[in-house]
Amino acid sequence: MTTTMHLAAEPPAASPTGVLRVEGVRKVFDTKRGRHEALKSIDLTIVDGEFLTILGPSGCGKTTLLRILAGFEDPTTGDVLLDDAVITDVPPNKRPMAMVFQSYALFPHLTVFENIAYGLRIAKVPKEEIAERVDVVLSIMDLVGLADRLPTQLSGGQQQRVALARSVVIRPRVLLFDEPLSNLDARLRDQMRSELRRIQRQLGITSVYVTHDQTEAMAMSDRIVVMSEGRIEQVGTPTEVYRSPATLFVADFIGKANVLNATSRSRSTAGLTVHVLGVELEVPDPGGLDEDFVLVLRPEDVELQRFPSPNDHSVRTVEGRVEAAGWVRAVEYLGAATQLTTELLDGTLIESVHHHSAHEDPTELPGEGDGVLAVLHGHALRAVQPLQP
Ligand SMILES: Nc1ncnc2c1ncn2[C@@H]1O[C@H](COP(=O)(O)OP(=O)(O)OP(=O)(O)O)[C@@H](O)[C@H]1O
Ligand SMILES: [Mg+2]
Repeated sequence: MTTTMHLAAEPPAASPTGVLRVEGVRKVFDTKRGRHEALKSIDLTIVDGEFLTILGPSGCGKTTLLRILAGFEDPTTGDVLLDDAVITDVPPNKRPMAMVFQSYALFPHLTVFENIAYGLRIAKVPKEEIAERVDVVLSIMDLVGLADRLPTQLSGGQQQRVALARSVVIRPRVLLFDEPLSNLDARLRDQMRSELRRIQRQLGITSVYVTHDQTEAMAMSDRIVVMSEGRIEQVGTPTEVYRSPATLFVADFIGKANVLNATSRSRSTAGLTVHVLGVELEVPDPGGLDEDFVLVLRPEDVELQRFPSPNDHSVRTVEGRVEAAGWVRAVEYLGAATQLTTELLDGTLIESVHHHSAHEDPTELPGEGDGVLAVLHGHALRAVQPLQP
């Protein structure tokens, strides 16, 4: 597409090690109440053209890491590299990056056109080229009719698109986003989420996106970096972090997880034989586990079967799965799915979720107080470390 041709940055030299790299970055803040280690030795490679999301709870260090990438903050130790050159000491305005903030920070007295053109004027780009480049982004961002309006005459979503247009028009190598959608209402957020992703794909600009919203991270990212307390817990595609969480923190932070205590019995090529819920079962061996681990299981992987007399049965293993009897204690109908809580005979609570389809009778699902067998398939159980070493 011609618009992409016009706007894309100069083709970058292929960099097998990634565009942007963080090596051994620590950040210690000195505060009145002592020193606070906000980042504890971060190593990360951001690949050319990818959309990488940094995800984690409030205070885990996401913004600090992004500000170090942008150059607004110096690492206490470690380096930032761009195309294999160390840029740790390069000031923010000399880095080929643009940051998009939560508050759009548009100039209120300038029109949409002037807001977008601002960075190009500062860079003394010729007038005709400015007009041409702004026109291209106006069209990509779906803002064509709005060029002469002031920011106050725009909706929240339109303001957000102007902020993004202003960042991409300068053709940065890397776009940095700090929770850019958190001021928008839920519906607009969803819409902007796909918009933003579409634009990023179209332009192919390497992007680092900070959020504490796991749904947003799952929906938008090529890869997700899950952080907790200044450390990286896992880096992976949305499927990897969801299906194969490396730690209990990741399993719990991304989606829901049942957590079962277990002990290791033996290891073989077939997997890990574990003792769980009073029986022995084979589960996949993720490797690198300590003695101390737990099993996690996604609610959608639990199968429930009606079972009138749980007290006669308890727990048994059948062909690679555990069948544990219990009683349904709670049922929540969520529209597209129903969520059930089952109490096993030993008191363990198991969450399960059943997704509905058009050709089934929802009344066939067990109800509150019904006896059930919770079927837990060994291959769906994942052994994880309870805490980071
Ligand atoms: N300038 C500073 N001085 C002292 N401590 C700071 C400073 N900036 C951040 N911190 C602390 O470092 C930790 C990480 O902060 P950061 O802003 O990176 O978190 P975050 O993951 O972006 O959180 P949120 O989701 O709330 O934005 C927090 O405990 C914070 O209080
Ligand atoms: Mg933050």
